[in-house]
Parts: sequence; C-alpha cells; structure tokens
Amino acid sequence: MKNKKKVLKNKKILLGVAGGVAAYKSVDLVRRLKDEGASVNVIMTDAAKNFVTPLSLEIASENRVCSGVFDDPMSHINLPREADIMLIAPATANIIGKFANGIADDLLSTCFLSFKGKVVVAPSMNWRMYDNPIFQENLRRLTAHGVIQSGPDKGTLACGEEGIGRMADVSEIIETIKSAFSKKDFFKKKVIVTAGPTREYLDPVRFLSNRSSGKMGYAVARACIRRGAEVILISGPSCLEQPHGLKSFFRVETAQEMRDAMFKCLTETDVVIMAAAPADFSPEKKEKAKIEKSGKLSVNFKNTPDILSEAGKLKKKPLLVGFAAETGGRLDRAKKKLIQKNADIIVFNNVTAVGSGFDVDTNEITIIRKNKELSLPLMTKAAAAEAILDAVSDGMKKHAKSRRVESQD
Ligand code: CTP
Repeated sequence: MKNKKKVLKNKKILLGVAGGVAAYKSVDLVRRLKDEGASVNVIMTDAAKNFVTPLSLEIASENRVCSGVFDDPMSHINLPREADIMLIAPATANIIGKFANGIADDLLSTCFLSFKGKVVVAPSMNWRMYDNPIFQENLRRLTAHGVIQSGPDKGTLACGEEGIGRMADVSEIIETIKSAFSKKDFFKKKVIVTAGPTREYLDPVRFLSNRSSGKMGYAVARACIRRGAEVILISGPSCLEQPHGLKSFFRVETAQEMRDAMFKCLTETDVVIMAAAPADFSPEKKEKAKIEKSGKLSVNFKNTPDILSEAGKLKKKPLLVGFAAETGGRLDRAKKKLIQKNADIIVFNNVTAVGSGFDVDTNEITIIRKNKELSLPLMTKAAAAEAILDAVSDGMKKHAKSRRVESQD
C-alpha cells in the first residue's frame, strides 16, 4: 500500500500508568498506539507496579520504563520535552488530585508539571470515589486548564459493583489522542453520515440487500468527530462498533427508514455524507408470513427512495457528498451521478479493484467535484476519510458563500 498516512505516525507519546486495576490494559494500549505508528515512553508510578510489571511495558513499548525521579536526575525534564502528547491511563483519583493541586512528588507528577503540550487523562476508579465532590472539583480544575478527559465508562467495576468509573476502552482512548492531534476545521459543523446497506424485506426472513460493511461510512463519521463536527450517524445493519463521540446514532433497516431518519435530522445541517449503499429495489409486497418453497417465485420490485437525489432538490440544501461504488473504472457514471443527483462531491471507487472492494479496510478513491478531480492511491479507509473531509472542508467555504448569495436573492 503506497499511502499509509496515519494520524499518530511518528508521534511521541508519554504514557503515565498510575496504580489502578485497569493498569493491566496499558500493555494493550501501548501495542495499539505503536500499531498506529506512534512511539511510546512509559512512566509507571510505584503503585502501578502492583498491577502490571515494568518488564511487560518495556517489551510492549520497546523503550525503557521510567519510574523514580532520581533514577535519572533530568528525566522529569527530558521525557516531557521530547513528547508530543502526554496520556495518563489509568488516571487514579490520587494522580488527578496531585495534578490538580500542583503536587510534584514522583516522576509522573513532576513530568506533568513540566510538560507544555496537550494532556489526556483516562480516569479509572470506583464510582464512590468518582462521585466524590472533592475528586470532581479536581477533575473540573484539570479540564478547565485544558486537560482532555477520555471516559470513564459505566459498567461492572473491579469490586463487583455497577457504576461509572471503568477506564474508557483502549479504542476510545486512542480516538481521543487522534482527536487531540486533528485539525478542527469542522468545529460546530453539523454533519449527517449514512453508512452500511439497507434491507428490503420480501417476508419476515428474506430480504434484498447490498454488499456493504459500513466501514467507509463509519471511518468518515470518526474523522468528522475528530475534526470537531457534531455527527449524526444513520446506519443500516452493520456489526461495526458505534464510533465514540457521536451526537446521535440511528439504526435503520430499509431505505425508506434511512430516508425518514435523514430528513428528520436535516434542519440546520451543514454537510450530508451519503456513504450508505441503500438497496435500489424493494419488493412491492412484503408478506407477513414466511413464503413457502413451492415452485417458482416471481417478485415485483419497486424503486426505493433515492435519498441523495431528494436532498439534492432541497432549496437550501446542505453540502452533499455521494459515493459511486462502480464495477470497473466507470468514472463517467460517477460524474453523471454528480450532476443527476445535484451533489457537490462524488467519491468514486471501483469495487472490483484489489483492496477497494467490500469489507476491507482500504480503498482507492477519486474525489470528483464540478471542476476538479483528485485520484488518490490505495490507502486505509481512515486516511481516505480524511482526504474526503479535506475536499468537504474546501467545499464548505464556497458552499457557505453561495448559500449567503442565495438568501439575499
Ligand atoms: N443513494 C441514495 N438512495 C438510493 C440509492 C443510492 O441516496 N436509493 C446514494 C448512495 O448513498 C450514494 C449515491 O446515491 O451516495 C450513489 O449510489 P449508487 O448505488 O452508486 O448509485 P445509484 O443511484 O443507486 O445508481 P446505480 O445503482 O444505477 O449505480
């Protein structure tokens, strides 16, 4: 793959592991950060060593794990100076209390005080401690100073109780880190993303659908969130994990449901990105009971609503992005869709090309606008999503201008 552009590539992350039971997850966290192309230096508090060994983190990070302030007298200056971001996961009530009050009595807290960049904390503790007003005051104090919080989640805690306090999932923490590095050119923009296939039922057990995993649409939704947008994701059936940080999420099955969900949310929307692959046909009649297998079956189909075309006819239409998944290099068909559906951008991909088909993590796209065409090499769907958003961001400026002119007419 030629383009492996990753948000965390070559980023230097200083990870603080404090003494909470979730510390065992830090090994996985380090591995996943490294998979994203980052390098990781780990600082452990003494308490953390009760839950995970320095050796495990040393092997995972491929770096020496630091712990004592006096092991290397200048580490509290050098480690933060070399880092692009600081992450504390798990962040215990104790370490958050120290950070919030300027206490610097171990390597992690001294590094925090001397660090000049962005800091992410992933709190982890029992719900009683989390709810404590003194702890909440400390956390508020930190976030007021720009510290970014990831989690905690609700769920079963180490003590067996249910409540808030579980450290955020590793994938959620990584998303928060990516978001910290992302530009915020979609700040406060309202974006609707559609993803996945639809199902058009013939009877309660059989349906017509499209081959679509939803991966491209979910990657677009994630990229929008990272870049500061308020995102509504409308998804057909998909087994993908819901992106963290969505404003709303609608699970739909049929093209009609997708259309209705979208138009319900459309007011004040700046951008609609239709990455979904709605089925184009729906059986004219849906049987209430399972059709028996007796002889030949012929079915009459009707067209489903063309959601993108309908949005393209709106007087005050948002910026519209459609996808054209074609078999073969049919750029001509994709260009036709741009005009016919009155879209602002069409993202073309050839689903029969290697690495660009369904259910894979890569895509090779061409971004088509009225007077511009940008063909990109094979890349991850996450990187393709970023490229699509670059084009949308550029289009948003022109779109806002033309909307202003329209409203003056
Ligand atoms: N689309 C839509 N509603 C439909 C079908 C498609 O909004 N009922 C949208 C898709 O989400 C995509 C774009 O239209 O953004 C193009 O979809 P595509 O399936 O490539 O084209 P179709 O219009 O369905 O035409 P064809 O099947 O002939 O290629």
